[in-house]
Amino acid sequence: MSFDMATAFRPGLPEPAVPWQDPPDFAFVGGNNDADSVPFGGLAEAAVNALKREGRALATYNLGGSPLGYLPLRRFVCDALGVRADTTVQPDEVLITSGSLQALDLVNQALLAPGDTVLIEQATYGGMVSRLQRLGVSYVGIELDEHGIDVAHLASVLDELAAAGRTPKYLYTIPTVQNPTGSVLPVERRLEVLALARRHGVPIFEDDCYADLVWDGTRPPTIRSLDDGGGQVIYCGSFSKSIAPALRVGYIVADQSVVLQLMALKSDAGTGALEQLTLAEFAPSHFDQHVERLIAALKRKCDRMVEAVGREFGAEVTVTPPKGGIYVWLTFPDGVDTDALAPAAAEAGIQFNPGSGWSADPAWGRRRLRLCFGDAEESSIDRGVAELARVYRESGQADQPGG
Ligand SMILES: Cc1ncc(COP(=O)(O)O)c(C=O)c1O
Repeated sequence: MSFDMATAFRPGLPEPAVPWQDPPDFAFVGGNNDADSVPFGGLAEAAVNALKREGRALATYNLGGSPLGYLPLRRFVCDALGVRADTTVQPDEVLITSGSLQALDLVNQALLAPGDTVLIEQATYGGMVSRLQRLGVSYVGIELDEHGIDVAHLASVLDELAAAGRTPKYLYTIPTVQNPTGSVLPVERRLEVLALARRHGVPIFEDDCYADLVWDGTRPPTIRSLDDGGGQVIYCGSFSKSIAPALRVGYIVADQSVVLQLMALKSDAGTGALEQLTLAEFAPSHFDQHVERLIAALKRKCDRMVEAVGREFGAEVTVTPPKGGIYVWLTFPDGVDTDALAPAAAEAGIQFNPGSGWSADPAWGRRRLRLCFGDAEESSIDRGVAELARVYRESGQADQPGG
């Protein structure tokens, strides 16, 4: 008889992961990127150059430098945010993380306790929703329109919570190429959101991991920059969407006192050094050109997917073309249940993210779904969306009231 380790697991663990399976033909889930656009030649050259020059430093944790991360990479983050997003940052305000997921975890660890309340966007990143659930934190969804946060709704939620004696621990927002809706919050609204956050003493957690993927290449100033040293905003970004998710390199930008607090919570003895060395070597001379090419490739796929959705679903499904990024967000008629559609779609070789997991209110999200076109072949976009429409029609859900 072998020992059943599960009897030793602590209570309250999440469901075990399901064993890995190769993706089906039409895997429109997750946040993968365009394989043809990965600059692996440039990354290989950068890695060789950096290793030849600094390989001896691999003998020491953090390459013998600050646990904040490799200084030349933090300098690049500062330079890029300055040029691209009008945001002044000093290297000691940057903490390099193992993907921006670690940034979410560190900020949550520092700010949240069970029973707390946070504000999130009505449709938001599923990885954040599941984290909040695991932490026992409640969340209130702020309505979105095609430009992002509805400021009047934010104001009324803040007033209601204040009247009930509750101050949210933060407002989590993805203002630039919102996940999943693809909107970009205009500067005026950023200022209004900031003013409300200040008035109510609520920190803003600004997640900007798609911000370099706006179709026209220009991004508004970050909310952090508009705060102008006010200390109200913790910002995070990532190289996952602009270069490659497998690198697992993200970053937090915050006031130095906050960064030092987060550094005390970062218990992994440093983010992978080879990735940091490689990015720091590659990015200063190649990032802009690479991102320009990546945007063009993603825009082609996006147009193709939006067209395919229009062609296959007609007026029954609403899709607002995203302003950038790798997703389209589909809204079905009242009564449709995309959770119920997922198993039939999976049988036909199609995966999508049902909207319930990407929403503050699962019931609101149930007639929505997210498709990722980042790593899909262009021809499989047409075939996959056509198949999805067939599965939808055959599910009988197209006949729901209002449908
Ligand atoms: C809004 C948002 N934040 C954070 C992440 C995490 O990305 P990574 O850890 O690869 O930087 C994702 C990934 O899809 C995301 O969509």
